[in-house]
Amino acid sequence: LSKYPHINKGLAGIVAFSSTKSFIDGQEGKLIYAGYNIDTLAENATFEEVCFLLWNDRLPNKAELDELNNKLQNNRDLPEAVLNYLKSTSSNAEPMSVLRTAVSMLSDFHEVEADTSKEFRINKAISITSKMPTIIAAYDRIRNGKEVVAPLSEKNTAFNFLYMLNGEEPGEQAEKTMDLCLILHAEHGMNASTFTNRTICSTESDMYSSITGAIGALKGPLHGGANQAVMNMLLDIEENDADPVEYIKERLDDKQKVMGFGHRVYKTMDPRARILRGMSDQLSRETGHEKLYEWSEAILETMKSEKGIDPNVDFFSATVYYSMGISPDLYTCIFAMSRVSGWTGHYIEQAENNRLVRPRALYVGEKDLPWVPVEER
Ligand code: SDX
Repeated sequence: LSKYPHINKGLAGIVAFSSTKSFIDGQEGKLIYAGYNIDTLAENATFEEVCFLLWNDRLPNKAELDELNNKLQNNRDLPEAVLNYLKSTSSNAEPMSVLRTAVSMLSDFHEVEADTSKEFRINKAISITSKMPTIIAAYDRIRNGKEVVAPLSEKNTAFNFLYMLNGEEPGEQAEKTMDLCLILHAEHGMNASTFTNRTICSTESDMYSSITGAIGALKGPLHGGANQAVMNMLLDIEENDADPVEYIKERLDDKQKVMGFGHRVYKTMDPRARILRGMSDQLSRETGHEKLYEWSEAILETMKSEKGIDPNVDFFSATVYYSMGISPDLYTCIFAMSRVSGWTGHYIEQAENNRLVRPRALYVGEKDLPWVPVEER
């Protein structure tokens, strides 16, 4: 394969699309959503403002934000058939698989893609973004034998999600933490799930198909599935009364990947990890989980000194969600519930300036083999 320098395994370094959605400076550890630095957004924005930004490439004025909030609040109910699916599927299913199937099902209850206007597409993005938290919370309650909590037709996405999940109104701090997590996960360039989503869009397939495919791509442990894997690793250390530094060194000696570390683009600390690290520190102290945070710091130091590798977004988000009492197998669903804003933004961008995604493969198999009848093989 070295004869073919144009082949980049994993499409590393290949620029496949142009986009106004986000910019990553991997050397400096800088992330920008449609012009705004992630630190600026983390400090000032709400998740709903970020959704508007990713769909329109500008921030909303007050009236536009009110209108968007209104639409998001009024689109949260699920079709009866989707709710019935959540009730009838296995209570041992992976929540990401359930989310993928339920989002796919939503398309059965919506208009076909006859309208190609931006407004129609944004309304569809709003509809999917509104319903994903309802799906996740409803399935979690059903699998735990609890009554489904109907969504509120007021309050923001973060508040409503925690309310539906826990059956009680979240405090201000929990709402703010969840909102910040949603902002931090909303968009991130040409990651595997966004690429999948744009590829599906490029065939002129519908937005539900694109988002369904993207959820499937996000689920894998090399992508969004890493946050759940990080938590399982920390719980494994706890259960086995292991020393976190030794645990990590053994993994590395064994040539295993340590989840929540490394990134294709960042060669320094992921700026989202930097923000989540501070949140994890504060929350774990407040909720009596300091030990988990201390282990995380020890793991971070070990990864830096042994491999020179920094944490990514998934490393500290795990302990943040754990401190909020959320089940580890929902972490990747929360990632999806946020990233749908970026996916749909990219879908609209691709649809408005489309060309079919159709790369080539280098054939390295044999050619022109003689046919051998089955009895003689
Ligand atoms: C996300 O791209 C995005 O934008 C994704 C994301 C988003 O917002 O959408 O940022 C979210 O998905 C974060 C990534 C979550 N995944 C993990 O945490 C899984 C663990 N990490 C890795 O497997 C890895 O770092 C990747 C998958 C994230 C990146 O893979 P690359 O770019 O193909 O890098 P690589 O596997 O070729 O690694 C390069 C070197 C190797 O060493 P050598 O063989 O050259 O000696 O670094 C080593 C790797 O072994 N390495 C690791 C490691 N990550 C890289 N070694 C141990 N543990 C790790 N986590």
